[in-house]
Amino acid sequence: MLTSTKIPRIIGHRGAKGLAPENTLVSFRKAKELGATWVEFDVKETEDGVLIIMHDDDLDRTTNGKGTIINSKWSEIKNLDAGSYFNSTFTNEKIPTLEETFLLLSELNLGANIEIKPCPTREKRTAIAIANEIKNKWPKNLPPPLVSSFSMESLVAAKKVDPNLIIGALFETLPHDWKKIALEVQAKTIHIDHEIVNKEMINEITHEGYPILTYTVNDQKRANELFDMGVTAIFTDFPWKE
Ligand code: G3P
Ligand code: MG
Repeated sequence: MLTSTKIPRIIGHRGAKGLAPENTLVSFRKAKELGATWVEFDVKETEDGVLIIMHDDDLDRTTNGKGTIINSKWSEIKNLDAGSYFNSTFTNEKIPTLEETFLLLSELNLGANIEIKPCPTREKRTAIAIANEIKNKWPKNLPPPLVSSFSMESLVAAKKVDPNLIIGALFETLPHDWKKIALEVQAKTIHIDHEIVNKEMINEITHEGYPILTYTVNDQKRANELFDMGVTAIFTDFPWKE
């Protein structure tokens, strides 16, 4: 696997979260249709170790199921409706597995930022499983994925499985010791909330050689402001073609 990748400026957040049910195959197709060349999505693990694309720790908000992912088996999750919560036209859209998602990305020629979003207590185990899946099944026709997480424990564990993984450190707010953390997890990129960035912060991070990716930017004017300030890429619920 290559150790660098070309990150596009526009990345579809959870696919095209603003226009389709988040983190589903139809959402990734929508992002592609809108002109995105990369999508971001969140990965966690069921009780019995199946890697699925899901943001929340429980099923309640985005599916017709109930309960936590960590206490649910794949057999209890796989037939749930993960589309109706968004709009009835998406009824019966399913929660995808990571494996299914790789196949679709390959078919669509869509790159990805894979966010490791472990259920609490599964930080290491989920990261190891995701890194192995990438190592064994990441489509050869795609550029290497960028692998990010808010969990530094997950990032360290993933990197141990495959030292070539390209790591992004995700922060809600920039900790004073961000540089030390970035070095510890061997991050190549810094991902941060656009609402807290300012020119000084951007200069500080880019001065150290890290590209900055900001989430979640749904306004094209704001996106341009961020690019002008030196931000490399934005995550958006409404991706567009550049
Ligand atoms: O990876 C960027 C963004 O997705 C992080 O926040 O909560 O949407 O996963 P969240
Ligand atoms: Mg995410």
